Amino acid sequence: MTDPKAKTIDTLLSEIRTFIPPAEFVAQANVADPAIYASANEDWQGWWASWAEKLQWDRKWDTVLNWNLPYAEWFVGGKLNASVQCLDRHVAAGNGERIAFYFEGEQGDTRELTYSQVLRNVCRIANGLKSLGVNKGDRVAIYMPMVPELAMTLLACARIGAIFSVVFAGFSPTSLKDRIQDQTAKLVICADGCWRRGKVLDLKTVVNEAVAACDSVTNVVVLRRGGGCTSAAPATARDVEWNDVFANQADTCTPLAMDSEDPLFILYTSGTTGKPKGIVHTTGGYLTAALATTKLVFDLKEEKDVYWCTADIGWITGHTYIVFGPMANGATQVIYEGAPDFPHQDRFWALIEKYKVSIFYTAPTAIRAFMKWGEEHPAKHDLSTLRLLGSVGEPINPEAWVWYLHHIGGGKCPIVDTWWQTETGAIMITPLPGITTTVPGSATTPFPGIEAKLIQEDGSEVIGAGGGYLALTRPWPSMLRGLWGDNKRYEETYWSRFPGKYFAGDGAKRDENNFLWILGRVDDVMNVSGHRLSTMEIESSLVAHPSVAEAAVVGVAHEMKGQAPIGFVILRHGYVASPQLEQELRAFVGTEIGGLARPERITFTPELPKTRSGKIMRRLLRDIAEGKEIGDVTTLADPNVLKGLQAEFVKHD
Ligand code: WT7
Repeated sequence: MTDPKAKTIDTLLSEIRTFIPPAEFVAQANVADPAIYASANEDWQGWWASWAEKLQWDRKWDTVLNWNLPYAEWFVGGKLNASVQCLDRHVAAGNGERIAFYFEGEQGDTRELTYSQVLRNVCRIANGLKSLGVNKGDRVAIYMPMVPELAMTLLACARIGAIFSVVFAGFSPTSLKDRIQDQTAKLVICADGCWRRGKVLDLKTVVNEAVAACDSVTNVVVLRRGGGCTSAAPATARDVEWNDVFANQADTCTPLAMDSEDPLFILYTSGTTGKPKGIVHTTGGYLTAALATTKLVFDLKEEKDVYWCTADIGWITGHTYIVFGPMANGATQVIYEGAPDFPHQDRFWALIEKYKVSIFYTAPTAIRAFMKWGEEHPAKHDLSTLRLLGSVGEPINPEAWVWYLHHIGGGKCPIVDTWWQTETGAIMITPLPGITTTVPGSATTPFPGIEAKLIQEDGSEVIGAGGGYLALTRPWPSMLRGLWGDNKRYEETYWSRFPGKYFAGDGAKRDENNFLWILGRVDDVMNVSGHRLSTMEIESSLVAHPSVAEAAVVGVAHEMKGQAPIGFVILRHGYVASPQLEQELRAFVGTEIGGLARPERITFTPELPKTRSGKIMRRLLRDIAEGKEIGDVTTLADPNVLKGLQAEFVKHD
């Protein structure tokens, strides 16, 4: 027999048409009977209620669901505290000595924290928050790196009923400021810095700049990352030290019984306009779906698995599948601070070997990077503890899927390709690893209790095989409850395109086996390395530069990132196109929004392709940027514009 690892991707692709869950996996699987779909669908409210019952309620709900389209209330009348689900009940059940986090800093510093230790720390932080005047319903903005204190801060906010809002610590001062202002946060919690590829990222400088314009903020709590990681930023009048406010607090704190529908957090994500949307999630329903999906999709055995999700807690994946899902289940997990290629390109595999990771959840963009770096890196390590692999954030190309299966999963680990969104709060479309025969590239079918449909332009449903807009057609417990301060936009964005149905913004197709294939966004949102960016947001950032008169941005196919932003810019009078100006504009977007949004390249042009009514036809710009045959131009005001633009674009190369 030839070594499967020696096979080329093409051979693997031709051989692996489907993956049948191995008997060994099925024998131990949390779900081994496909009847789960029929029974959950028959009584989907009862199905979700059966999961809610596994949580610890201070008061049981009166009504499972109030559905006043498009507003849902789940487990109405019920009271519970999110931190209790993730901590106290595990300690009370005698599992306090179980490791909650294996933390590994980029520089190799390590810490182990048990559930009891995390509970005590969370109580100290919660008491400290109260001492700073934080009350139920107040907003706390968090700008921290991947250290255990980040997860603990979320749980501490939840313990006292403060609404937390994590801003990914790669966002710019302007982005952070906008988010703090939108939610009128009372408190900001940050770290001075963190390690990234051997260098210190100075977070405090970003925070100083952001909060200068935020009057609502009474204090900024600064965690010292330590280990030689410091910030050059000066202390400001509102600063307080993490240790001063938290370290000496009592290590018990009575959790506040929250209403099931009380907001737990706000998480900002990009929409089709320049202004990010503050997605609001509430307590009881969110935890119910986080608990259920983690347990079933990842086939979690909390008493023995070591789980590792490589996302940052600053994104929804980290909220649901690092903090609330795994912790509500009482799982042991790995948290890693830094880059996958530091100090070497085998860092992840070294971590899997070291901590005996059994469940590994990452993004296709990362898998493509691993492929590029070469299979010799994973081959150096013992990855035999792995038994399940997950993928999230963007469609996974079949090449990456088969590579992941063979070089990481040893050909034996099921892969769960999980489709969901910041808005859905939890996984919606996914295999169940013990029962789904998977196909490379398909997220397969809706999770039990979830109903997804494909809708045509005219609003009619696609029956059987075919393509359409992806819509969710039943309420689900972890659905967003609205946009912070903007319900009109909530109704318009998600519920008006196909009245009565949740419009996800993705296109998808269904094959003959009833499997769904997510095709990507159909709106002006792009997906860069699994992260969501708005074309409009980048455009408004470009036009904020003094040299720019008009800008159009499109997401174009990119080998590693999935998609990458490309800009087309019309300069103002008196400015001359040059490579220097292109670099300046790219850097400008990077500092205005964050590094992810920096355009891959910018083409200067005297004109943009517009319809007669003046709308920029981004579709045509995408065709040019991807070197494709240019699509239908009949609606263009002046078809000649394209020729010049194409010439400019090619000249740039
Ligand atoms: C968008 C949501 C959910 C956590 C990470 C991103 C795309 C997400 C998949 C997948 C194909 C996917 C969709 C979706 N997406 N997972 N498995 N297959 N596409 O969260 O920033 O809210 O973005 O990511 O386009 O709409 P997000």
